[in-house]
Amino acid sequence: MALILGIESSCDETAAAVIDGNGATLATRIVAQRIASQDEAHRPYGGVVPEIAARAHVEVLGPMVEAVLADAGLALGDVDAIAATAGPGLIGGVMVGLVTAKALAMAADKPLVAVNHLEGHALSPRLADPSLCYPYLLLLVSGGHCQILEVAGVGQYRRLATTIDDALGEAFDKTAKILGLGYPGGPAVERLAREGNPKAVPLPRPLVGSGEPHFSFAGLKSAVMRAKDAGVHADADIAASFQQAALDCVVDRTRIALSVAAPGMTALVVAGGVAANAALRGALVALAADHGLPLVAPPPKLCTDNAAMIGWAGVERFALGYTDPLDVAARPRWPLDENAAPVRGAGVKA
Ligand SMILES: Nc1ncnc2c1ncn2[C@@H]1O[C@H](COP(=O)(O)OP(=O)(O)OP(=O)(O)O)[C@@H](O)[C@H]1O
Ligand SMILES: [Mg+2]
Repeated sequence: MALILGIESSCDETAAAVIDGNGATLATRIVAQRIASQDEAHRPYGGVVPEIAARAHVEVLGPMVEAVLADAGLALGDVDAIAATAGPGLIGGVMVGLVTAKALAMAADKPLVAVNHLEGHALSPRLADPSLCYPYLLLLVSGGHCQILEVAGVGQYRRLATTIDDALGEAFDKTAKILGLGYPGGPAVERLAREGNPKAVPLPRPLVGSGEPHFSFAGLKSAVMRAKDAGVHADADIAASFQQAALDCVVDRTRIALSVAAPGMTALVVAGGVAANAALRGALVALAADHGLPLVAPPPKLCTDNAAMIGWAGVERFALGYTDPLDVAARPRWPLDENAAPVRGAGVKA
């Protein structure tokens, strides 16, 4: 097992971490990590502006890598490999991180590991919980993705479900925007929902009851907009009712996925930014227990984008001998399951 420098820059966090693959616990595996959020830069626009994001990564990343190595008490020559997100994501930002990693790899004569950002999320529960074994059923819920996958091993993914329109994190962010809660929206919606009545506002549960475990959130978002425009509901009630409707959808869809998944899953696992949501975690604990499985979720700080998960994916890939040439390309799109067929209705925005 190896010492890996991990770099993440696919969206609006710049992050670097040193991960020790020999560590037996989360605390000893993360030797050092730093993260710089660009929330302030994007807040006036109510969402991430790709050009601003890329420039901010350029400014922050070089000094951050030096700082995280100093935190770890290491020189660049001490790490075994350099792992960086190579996609999917905002291409300008991905290129900043990947080019930086290539330059470091070339300068220090170290191997490069090009990491799929989604694989970072998908394997992050194994960083946090060393007892988690393959295969497991993964609910990946983030700002850009909403999928259920069988994870059979590194690079071995079978997608059972995906969203036909919005991602779950996107639905939280849009609800936050409708309610004037600002950006980023998920945590703000969760906070406000605690003060509201989840039954106050009747909202749809798109696709609930359908036989395939896919997701749809566009109709829910439109219903939230209409509820706000009606002017009769308290914002906290709208937030609580939205969160309840969204979680009902997730639980129903995941239940179907559990019923069609290959036998032998060791756990139900949730990862990605929305996995930080305490109400979601609570609902999934009960669902997993119904199926005799543990629910494994990384600590909330490892759910949203970070470099520790990229470094950990680097540890797992490097251990299998998977390194990449210095001309490896940055990829704006990079599905985990390259064989998954497009879903009927996908891309049709409500
Ligand atoms: N407590 C929370 N409750 C609900 N949503 C949350 C919470 N915390 C974060 N989120 C949502 O998680 C998303 C960010 O997750 P993440 O950083 O993994 O996404 P991303 O990197 O932008 O997307 P992707 O990983 O798909 O490329 C945002 O949509 C945010 O609103
Ligand atoms: Mg992410």
